[in-house]
Amino acid sequence: MQLIDTHTHLYSEAFDEDQDVIIQRAIDAGVQTFYIPAIDSEYTERMFSLEKMYPDRMRLMMGLHPTHVKSESYKEEMAHVIAQLEQRSFVAIGEIGIDLYWDKSTLALQQQAFRTQIQLAKKYKLPIVIHCRDAFDEVFEVLESEKGEELFGIFHCFTGTKEEAFKAISYNMKLGIGGVATFKNGKIDQFLAEISLEHIVLETDAPYLSPVPYRGKRNESSYLVLVAEKLATIYNRSLAEIAQITSANALAVFE
Ligand code: NI
Repeated sequence: MQLIDTHTHLYSEAFDEDQDVIIQRAIDAGVQTFYIPAIDSEYTERMFSLEKMYPDRMRLMMGLHPTHVKSESYKEEMAHVIAQLEQRSFVAIGEIGIDLYWDKSTLALQQQAFRTQIQLAKKYKLPIVIHCRDAFDEVFEVLESEKGEELFGIFHCFTGTKEEAFKAISYNMKLGIGGVATFKNGKIDQFLAEISLEHIVLETDAPYLSPVPYRGKRNESSYLVLVAEKLATIYNRSLAEIAQITSANALAVFE
């Protein structure tokens, strides 16, 4: 079985003590490749050293995370993203988007950052990886104005309604499904079966959002198997089929 974790923050401080153990455990569980979203310039070196240690397995994204869009650092952070994209290749622009859960006061700047980075993705012909929290309307507004063939990617940690799922798909987005699908009150498990599997990719978002039975604890990429098992139940398919289809979907976005 080959799984792809399309969203994991393996460079996080949460893994400082045992990063190699965590990565090996995921590999042993069948996770072949790890897609690494960026946060801000403070983490770039950590991402590069992770890639250096596992060059065949790590795929790096570049971008400025919406909760790290701050008026005092915005200019430098965006310049950093642009400079990195000029220097080397990345597999996606992410994670980018809008988060109104943590801070509503930066909405205008978050919208600007999101739009600017979508335009960078188009320039480099890369997918985008969207972070959206309490901001579906705001995210869709930007996607609507930027839609087109060259706009595509993943709606990471999708937690919306069925209607919002179809809307995201209409903008050429796959839905990133992770631990939330295993939560009793996660809601998406209620309608996921109505969304064709061709639109689904797997992710952990480690170290956050651990699936049941590890909910509330540190998440890690080996738990991707639990997400895949949940999807096997929801879609009434074998684990091997879920792995094969979602991995193909991920590769279709990133390669
Ligand atoms: Ni993330």
